[in-house]
Amino acid sequence: MTVIDEIKKLKAEKNAVILAHNYQPKEIQDLADCLGDSLELAREAKKTDADIIVLCGVMFMAETAKIINPTKKVLIPNPNAGCKLADYVNPAMIKAERKAYPDAEVVLYVNSTAESKAEADITCTSSNAVAVCKSLKSKRILFGPDSNLASWVAEQLPEKEIIPLPYGGCCPVHAEIKPQTAREAKAAGYTVICHPECPKAVRDECDVVASTGGMLKEAANADRWAVLTERDMTYRLKCKYPEKEFKGYESAFCENMKLITPELLRDSLRDETTEVVLPDALIKGAGRAIERMLNI
Ligand code: 13P
Ligand code: SF4
Repeated sequence: MTVIDEIKKLKAEKNAVILAHNYQPKEIQDLADCLGDSLELAREAKKTDADIIVLCGVMFMAETAKIINPTKKVLIPNPNAGCKLADYVNPAMIKAERKAYPDAEVVLYVNSTAESKAEADITCTSSNAVAVCKSLKSKRILFGPDSNLASWVAEQLPEKEIIPLPYGGCCPVHAEIKPQTAREAKAAGYTVICHPECPKAVRDECDVVASTGGMLKEAANADRWAVLTERDMTYRLKCKYPEKEFKGYESAFCENMKLITPELLRDSLRDETTEVVLPDALIKGAGRAIERMLNI
């Protein structure tokens, strides 16, 4: 039996569902029951009837699935799949900023640890960051850990004072993308789309700024795209729009997203590893901030 057949058999036997992020390797994308951006995966994890959720993505995504559906068994095939951006803030840093800005509400990007989320008023993803900030009563908002996303939100909402958490947090994959890349793609006739985690200098050169889920919708509007985000996003786009051209960039590569392989996914289903286990208090604390976001 092939690894793929084993995965299909185990999944049926155990009533498991495979949720995978849009940056997963092609072979994992092909095996997923649901592919999506961070928000879509969270919503799917909340509503699933499956007994087991296997999250093919990075740890904060698996933690989020567990927090919003704690009675399910949530597995991540490789527990080493972290997110470098998530490590830029911790609870002590958030508490210190709250003291410095007592009138501000804290919006935390889901690319953060469960411990940090428990200190936030509300979480957001890249697809709803603007809507989340807009929904808040307070004019002042402490936002982190991604300083690029913070500046993107500030541009969209001039009526708010968006204060980035002061640790220069950024995604190393998107921070490496250069404005010149966008300019060259435009000169070559591409419509250029980038993720809001890209630096402002890059965003300013692009035609469209969107989350990975947003990219899948925006792609309907042109035929030749240069896609300035993690490289496997182009596979996802090509599957949805086979008639269109999507130019990706090999160097835009999230090594953590590639730590999931079909063999590890098979082992995870077979041995029910690695289970995401979080203390009840943390589930409650972080769950409050995530649920508030999901209700927007
Ligand atoms: P999305 O919310 O667009 O899926 O982005 C998640 C992410 O990790 C981007 O680097
Ligand atoms: Fe984290 Fe960046 Fe990888 Fe997304 S692409 S998971 S933000 S390191």
